Amino acid sequence: MPKLSDRVSTFTDSVIRRMTRIANAHNALNLSQGFPDFDPPAEITAALSRVALTGPHQYATTWGADNFRRALAAKQERFAGYSVNPDTDIVVTCGGTEAMMAAMLTVCNPGDRVIVFSPFYENYGADAILSGAEPIFIPLTPPEYAFDPAALEEAFKQGVKAIIVCNPSNPCGKVFTSEELALIGRLATKYDAFIITDEVYEHILYAPHKHTYAAALPGLRDRVLCCSSLSKTYSMTGWRLGYIIGPAEVIEYARKVHDFLTVGAAAPLQEAAVTGLLLPKSYYEDLRELYTRKRDYLIKGLDEIGLKHNTPQGSYFVMVDISDFLALDCFRGWSDLRFCEWMIQTVGVAAVPGSSFFRENVNHLIRFHFARGEDTLKEALTRLARLEHEVAARQKGA
Ligand SMILES: Cc1ncc(COP(=O)(O)O)c(C=O)c1O
Repeated sequence: MPKLSDRVSTFTDSVIRRMTRIANAHNALNLSQGFPDFDPPAEITAALSRVALTGPHQYATTWGADNFRRALAAKQERFAGYSVNPDTDIVVTCGGTEAMMAAMLTVCNPGDRVIVFSPFYENYGADAILSGAEPIFIPLTPPEYAFDPAALEEAFKQGVKAIIVCNPSNPCGKVFTSEELALIGRLATKYDAFIITDEVYEHILYAPHKHTYAAALPGLRDRVLCCSSLSKTYSMTGWRLGYIIGPAEVIEYARKVHDFLTVGAAAPLQEAAVTGLLLPKSYYEDLRELYTRKRDYLIKGLDEIGLKHNTPQGSYFVMVDISDFLALDCFRGWSDLRFCEWMIQTVGVAAVPGSSFFRENVNHLIRFHFARGEDTLKEALTRLARLEHEVAARQKGA
């Protein structure tokens, strides 16, 4: 058989999807792959039923249906506080995933350097491979997940094309403050780089943390490509609706990249999702309350079990520290991956080994997501409470 491209040989298997497969094989509760187990708002599903009869069923405008872009521009203005021209500043994509890929392909030449904070969402590695960009990793140091401004400036000095900022962050739940974003903005301006933001969790935040849209900060509009999606905000990860909002000069080309990648996002789904974009402020307040209850429930349960964890400021992930377990004789030399596999088999709860998110050698954190109904979270905590017993049994046998 002829040789495949060098590009594909550098892809690794997704650890998250691997954990899901193992979880399914053992009938475990899957808190690894992060998506809600509840439906989108009823207004949106009702709109979807109507659209099934009325259409549209053919291609929408390649860069997004007119009414979808208008509703999106209005929503961005409402929450981010800056004006967006729906005719020039938006491209609608197949999820935030395509938005990030299209943004990278639009601004990066092969060999260009891109700053990525570590831990990072695993797709950024693939985005870099596909666009030919070379990531420079800057650590976000647990438990606060702060970064060192001097190290960041050193990275910019190497000559970078863009910096990727996942805010709020998957996996560590960090919400970048406006001061941190302003500092990133000053460096991006000084070294003339783009800021590509991944803001898919923009509405999943925990008080007192607030979301700052980097593009809304003074002087940054022309260099920020805001990538986001409807997946998390409206609990519709399967609809694959995302977008880039940015300066018209860049969006003009991002639209072409998107056109040749996918032609367009699903027309009937855009039509139905307009209803979501027009939902009142109370919807977003309710969403925040819902996730705050889930987060608080899970972390209270983890505290009661005695599992150390961070307290996410945003997104729906919590990192649990397993270093006390790994220090025991019975787990000597174990990786976090092996521990996660063992946990699935013994207590029936799946997490993602943190090492798959970090560039640095971090082996003591595992990630749970909590976009699940309270019954599932309750059952997960009941099962995790058995960890101590399982560990003791293993230790006895060691
Ligand atoms: C940080 C981050 N960006 C992007 C995505 C993908 O979003 P979408 O479903 O819109 O492609 C995810 C999904 O988990 C994510 O966590």
